[in-house]
Amino acid sequence: DTTDLTGLLLSRIRDVPDHPEPGVVFKDITPLLADPAAFTALTDALAEVAGDTGATKVVGLEARGFILGAPVALRAGLGFIPVRKAGKLPGATLSQSYDLEYGSAEIEVHAEDLTAGDRVLVVDDVLATGGTAEASLELIRRAGAEVAGLAVLMELGFLGGRARLEPALAGAPLKAL
Ligand code: PRP
Repeated sequence: DTTDLTGLLLSRIRDVPDHPEPGVVFKDITPLLADPAAFTALTDALAEVAGDTGATKVVGLEARGFILGAPVALRAGLGFIPVRKAGKLPGATLSQSYDLEYGSAEIEVHAEDLTAGDRVLVVDDVLATGGTAEASLELIRRAGAEVAGLAVLMELGFLGGRARLEPALAGAPLKAL
């Protein structure tokens, strides 16, 4: 059940103090990835969200969203679309910039990978400030596709990402395991 799943997932996420800088507690998912039972349980739970939301495609956000999103897409029988950091995709792309605490970042998707009629579930490991997810939802809409939802392993609630994403989600569900 849900409690067992949460307990299993939490037991495989390692808190690393002062990484990547002093005062930040980094959530390390590598122990979870190294445990096939936990990784399978996570994949199954996220694939269930894909089913529940009626998604027709899964978008993963570089880099850890690739590790989680690809098996979810296969488990759900859907195509996997990578949203990459700028400059990596070889074809015609749509780009979206977003603000970071200091400076800005840019993500891209192959324009031909998302079209009208697609319902897209975005998968990532962590929702923090929501900037990355917000930019990905923007890309999906600009491509003419529909947002089915956002599914993450962890939500860092104290950073307010959920509230920030409300307009971009426009009623689509945000599921944090
Ligand atoms: C992390 C994480 C999310 C994003 C969340 O990725 O995997 O994609 O930050 O932060 P936000 O909600 O404040 O935007 P990161 O940029 O560290 O990339 P990585 O997965 O390649 O390490």
